[in-house]
Amino acid sequence: MTPTTISRVHARRVYDSRGRPTVEAEVRLASGVTGRGIAPAGASRGSNEAIDLRDGGTLYAGYDVVQAVANVNGPIARALFGMDALEQVQVDRKMIELDGTPNKAKLGANAIVAVSLAVAQAGAQGFDMPLWQYLAGDDPVSLPMPEVQIFGGGAHAGRRIDIQDLMVMPIGAWTFGDAITMVAEIYRAAGELMRERGKLAGVADEGGWWPEFASNEEALETTVRAIERAGCHPGSDAAISLDIAASEFGRDGRYTLALEKRELDRDGMTQMLLDWIEHYPIVSIEDPFGEDDPAGWVNFTRAARHRVQVIGDDLLVTNAGRIEQAAADQSCNAVLIKVNQAGTLTEAKAALDAAKAAGFGTIVSARSGETEDTAIAHLAVGWNAGQLKVGAFARSERVAKWNELLRIEDAMGGDGRFAGVGALPPKK
Ligand code: PGA
Ligand code: ZN
Repeated sequence: MTPTTISRVHARRVYDSRGRPTVEAEVRLASGVTGRGIAPAGASRGSNEAIDLRDGGTLYAGYDVVQAVANVNGPIARALFGMDALEQVQVDRKMIELDGTPNKAKLGANAIVAVSLAVAQAGAQGFDMPLWQYLAGDDPVSLPMPEVQIFGGGAHAGRRIDIQDLMVMPIGAWTFGDAITMVAEIYRAAGELMRERGKLAGVADEGGWWPEFASNEEALETTVRAIERAGCHPGSDAAISLDIAASEFGRDGRYTLALEKRELDRDGMTQMLLDWIEHYPIVSIEDPFGEDDPAGWVNFTRAARHRVQVIGDDLLVTNAGRIEQAAADQSCNAVLIKVNQAGTLTEAKAALDAAKAAGFGTIVSARSGETEDTAIAHLAVGWNAGQLKVGAFARSERVAKWNELLRIEDAMGGDGRFAGVGALPPKK
């Protein structure tokens, strides 16, 4: 037994930002230190994501996690007892083997990811290091370019508008701190604009203003106005980043824009997005086409990659193999990294490495169901990802991550290791 030997693994039910049950795991080491991890949860999930185990039934609308918690306290705790917390790959592999399914359906990705995160936190504690430093080792680190939600839509706002995330990226900022100041001002300006128009109606799941708009384009227009009102120049100080989350309203290459009562085929969708890129200062588009529409992705990326970052989220589900395939097919040029889509830190890191090897942009991302767990802020820095997507500049489960980045920046001595606009993939 060494000081970093796992001596106890314990889980309990806690709640996420939608008030739904989720799994919190604690891992104690022989030295007495403890690491904690909490599973986040998505609402607009890719069909190839690792599966969260939910109990079904009527309590909590079927979202309870009694079985997932029991799986941690029973089989996972027994299997990990006596292992070395510093051997993250071996620990994660052990859980993958114990589960035995391709998508973690037996033990639950929510059970496994909470433990995987807790093991890493315990390992970092064992070294008396912040998680980002523990993960980085001797590798270079940087503070990520933030993608901050201004309006939330799609599955996060009762489908009030079709686009899921209207975000800004402070591409003109020189430091992470300046980037945050800029987005704080833009977020506030957007709220003022909505109030003046009599359209202020609270916030969506990730803290973006509730999208009281007559069309998707009105949301784009308002985001540009908010950038200007904050005293920033659209396109050079701050630019727009969209998550279309098109799998949510597309099937077999046809897309139904419910708000505008329009149905578009693949070409119509491509044209609409290219028109938006032409008319608005957009630098990034996530999930522009459905995960079942590979031709849409390839056509769009060919036409748009000289101007915008094209991100695969539901398409790639933080999977190294799918990322390699996407690179070969040239279906996008950037990837969202969500640890719970993969289910373990080891698999998420493999996805990130595959993305970097392909020259893809890398964006560590929160889920729409989040908690006070700030581990993803550390992953973005420690894994040297270019960008971080957390939601808006509101709601504590979001702001907790931005605040954690400010702490990390401070701990680094504020010497400007900010990924900046260079974090976007080259426009070739
Ligand atoms: P989700 O949304 O967490 O509900 O999947 C986030 C995203 O699509 O990026
Ligand atoms: Zn997405």
